[in-house]
Amino acid sequence: MQNTFQNESSREEMELKKNISSALDKKIELLSKLYKDHKISLDEIAVILGIEKREIENIFTNRGFMKKKRILVGGGAGFIGSNFIYHMLEKYPHYEIINYDVLTYAANIDNLRAAEKNPNYVFVKGDIADYEALSKIADTGIDAIVNFAAETAVGRSVHGKAADFIHSNVVGTHTLLELVRNYKIPKFIQISTDEVYGTVDLGEDRYFTEESPFEPNVPYAAAKAGGDMMCRAYANTYNVPVIVTHCSNNYGPYQHPEKMIPRFIHKAMKNQSLPVHGDGLHVRDWIYVRDHCEAVDLILHKGVMGEVYNISADNEVPTIEIAKMILDLIGKPYSLLNHVPDRPGNDRRYSIRANKIKSELGWVPSHTFIEAMPKTVEWYQHNIDWVDKIKERDQDFSNFI
Ligand SMILES: NC(=O)c1ccc[n+]([C@@H]2O[C@H](COP(=O)([O-])OP(=O)(O)OC[C@H]3O[C@@H](n4cnc5c(N)ncnc54)[C@H](O)[C@@H]3O)[C@@H](O)[C@H]2O)c1
Repeated sequence: MQNTFQNESSREEMELKKNISSALDKKIELLSKLYKDHKISLDEIAVILGIEKREIENIFTNRGFMKKKRILVGGGAGFIGSNFIYHMLEKYPHYEIINYDVLTYAANIDNLRAAEKNPNYVFVKGDIADYEALSKIADTGIDAIVNFAAETAVGRSVHGKAADFIHSNVVGTHTLLELVRNYKIPKFIQISTDEVYGTVDLGEDRYFTEESPFEPNVPYAAAKAGGDMMCRAYANTYNVPVIVTHCSNNYGPYQHPEKMIPRFIHKAMKNQSLPVHGDGLHVRDWIYVRDHCEAVDLILHKGVMGEVYNISADNEVPTIEIAKMILDLIGKPYSLLNHVPDRPGNDRRYSIRANKIKSELGWVPSHTFIEAMPKTVEWYQHNIDWVDKIKERDQDFSNFI
């Protein structure tokens, strides 16, 4: 008898759920028609249904009411680009991400093996300075470009490779601007660095804002500043919809071991000495890479075209402290610290504020250094083969440090 009652009530529950779901279906269909006729916005639909806007886009895309958004990510096989691609694939299942990368020594397509299984991910090998190759993709429609592609190793720019930096960071950026202009691509986010602002002294009460003048001190920073200036000029002259971001130093998984943090971790693990430039008191402002990705995502969706946004986690740390922290985390002695001659043109300190993105777009970094550094060290400890493979492939990279 009890079983009969139970069966009866679960049948009723199922019936109720079916009715609710079909009422919701009808509501969604009605709202999609209003949206198509431009009678309601996605924000209003989000309020009516009580869910996030991106979930509505996802539902509309799955039901064929909306086309998938296509985002071209320049330099997606590099450190920040690959983290950004994972961030976007996880958060926006209704976007198609085209990773456009020429695969320099700094790229590592292995970073994206997991992404390759995702039908929303496409890789195209190409140079951002190659207009013809880019226009083949633009012919099929692009909703936005987020450009991480650049030559990024300061040491290489100092030790004889500056021409490569001008090619990717200036000519490449200009080529993308031409593409955006000619194809009327709605959004272009150019990822730049705080290094364009130059340096401040230790203890000096001054920091970089979006209004700070460009005072680049090394060829890398000068080439980035050249690309950024071109963005400014294209926004002003042709109304090209472009935003430039200036971020501080990133740390996290997938960073090439020519860069300081992965290099120090790898050396400490192998009981090799950690080469610290000069007195080790150079200060950089460190941000966890996923916080940077979150900021770029926010700027892509809510940023105002023509604007510039600084990104930082207010975390200035001297190099020597980073080196000691890594040795502590790995359990190795400070006797591994080795002061080597300073690099020519080495900036003393970067100090940057991200007040604008915080107050205007509501961004806050969600990782602290104390919590994300051990996570980063652990990632490299678990992926030592990943680092060894790069080191084997690029025998010469220590010549440029
Ligand atoms: N790493 C940082 O701490 C940091 C901080 C602030 C800003 N940035 C900026 O963020 C961006 C990404 O930095 P990253 O550290 O990931 O760099 P990265 O060196 O790890 O990766 C750069 C990627 O760009 C690709 N690339 C270079 N030239 C290209 C070209 N002409 N065409 C197509 N692809 C090309 C490379 O193959 C590589 O995959 C850069 O623009 C850099 O200036 C980096």
